[in-house]
Amino acid sequence: MDKRIEKLTERRNKVLGGGGAKRIEKQHASGKMTARERICALLDENSFVELDMFVENRGNDFDAVKPDAPGEGVVTGYGTIDNRLVYVFAQDFTVIGGSLGEMHAKKICKVQDLALKMGAPVIGMNDSGGARIQEGVDALYGYGEIFYRNTISSGVVPQISVILGPCAGGAVYSPALTDFIFMADKTSNMFITGPAVIKTVTGEEVTAETLGGAMTHNSVSGVAHFVYQNEEETIAGVRKLVSYLPLNNMETAPYIPTEDDVNRVCEKLDTLVPENPNKPYDMKEVINEVVDDGDFFEVQPYYATNMITGFARIGGNSVGILANQPKSKAGCLDIDASDKAARFVSICDSYNIPLLTFMDVPGFLPGVNQEYGGIIRHGAKMLYAYSEATVPKITVVVRKAYGGAYIAMCSKHLGADQVFAWPMAEIAVMGPDGAANVVFKKDIDSSANPAKARTEKIAEYKEKFANPYKAASRGYVDDVIAPSATRQRVASALEMLKSKRDAIPAKKHGNFPV
Ligand code: HXC
Repeated sequence: MDKRIEKLTERRNKVLGGGGAKRIEKQHASGKMTARERICALLDENSFVELDMFVENRGNDFDAVKPDAPGEGVVTGYGTIDNRLVYVFAQDFTVIGGSLGEMHAKKICKVQDLALKMGAPVIGMNDSGGARIQEGVDALYGYGEIFYRNTISSGVVPQISVILGPCAGGAVYSPALTDFIFMADKTSNMFITGPAVIKTVTGEEVTAETLGGAMTHNSVSGVAHFVYQNEEETIAGVRKLVSYLPLNNMETAPYIPTEDDVNRVCEKLDTLVPENPNKPYDMKEVINEVVDDGDFFEVQPYYATNMITGFARIGGNSVGILANQPKSKAGCLDIDASDKAARFVSICDSYNIPLLTFMDVPGFLPGVNQEYGGIIRHGAKMLYAYSEATVPKITVVVRKAYGGAYIAMCSKHLGADQVFAWPMAEIAVMGPDGAANVVFKKDIDSSANPAKARTEKIAEYKEKFANPYKAASRGYVDDVIAPSATRQRVASALEMLKSKRDAIPAKKHGNFPV
């Protein structure tokens, strides 16, 4: 064989070997795959095409000899998921801890640039000690360039971050600028500063897992959206998410045929909501009944559980679903629920995914903590996101719909294209108990039997106001429907709204409340 071809094979094999057998063994022993194994698991078989295999660093002022860094500590390229183009990078922890230097960053930037031009998602698998310390400002340059591209690509091509190891310092900000963050449980961390620095600065003692582990970010901080038990499941989750998304903002999500009849009657729903309006039920049962094949892919299932967000399909087409969960904090809107909902609405709108909202909301959560935490500006995000969204918007009022929270959950007034209400819906300024106390105060106080008068006045208020017909009489509700007809009505509304054309006035950008 030509010596030059032999040399090529030799060079390729060296890069394919990453940081060497010993480091790969260590990686496996800690429950982690190598960068190449992860890419293999993510993409369709044999679809990966690698770029920049021979990129090398320039050396630095720190090391006497140029460090040996096969592939520069990151594997980059493109391939397919379900035969659809995606770009991918996977940091290689076996090579200088996957740390990010100038040329490592340039490899990532190249796939970001290609993805933006070609209109395809970027999936980044992060497993890195952060900025490569020896490269100093060149490493900072690298992060800055990536952040810039994350921002420019936002809302144009889906960006997905998968955290599969340490992710510290400025490294966490690239994932934070992307649309979705996946984490593998027990083997991934995200923090600005680790436990040692925190102990020095604030005196607090905390483990890396408690500080920035997968469950912390999925249930406490809301930074991450998905957590799975291991890397295989995490990567399978990424493939599933991609199936609900278009490749870019000029396309629609793929149609996935289903055997599930769009006219299926959801009998179970007619008896699901308890007669007593103060009794909870599981809103996920409503969602599962309505969507194709009962398949609901929940986003952020452990965070702000009073608000449900996620993807599903109806009649084979993707929808983004939001719903109040009466089982958690009575389904009220608080700071975290508002943030979660607003972000999800905004993502769906940027990628042309219709919004389906199920409403059962008693109101915004009252309290000093909520006010001090800025519920006003956080709640405003929901109003803003729903109002700005131009995708088809369908709302189903299941039960309670009170006050500002009713407006915020995609009422007609924020541009819902179709609003359906179930017969048990209560659409009013406030709940019957509170309202009767204010409106009928004089009658109740002057009555010989105030308790009896109060009960009667509450019943009167309910009869007059806490029902769907007042709103329907004004056209704020398009139709009052039997719960069992929900799938059929929503599917037909989605079909009718397929040709929706809507735009907000041309502007540089709006000022989203933060
Ligand atoms: C250079 C690094 C490195 C880094 C790890 N390595 N992080 N080299 N720069 N940032 C090297 C190690 O020296 C080691 O090399 C190999 O990678 C594996 O690391 P270990 O420490 O042996 O692995 P482990 O015990 O698993 O610990 C992993 C770790 C730890 C928790 C990530 O390495 C660590 O704390 N690294 C530093 C993290 C950090 O402070 N990064 C800078 C953040 S500041 P050998 O040759 O021994 O195998 C930052 C600023 C960016 O990122 C700002 C952007 C705006």
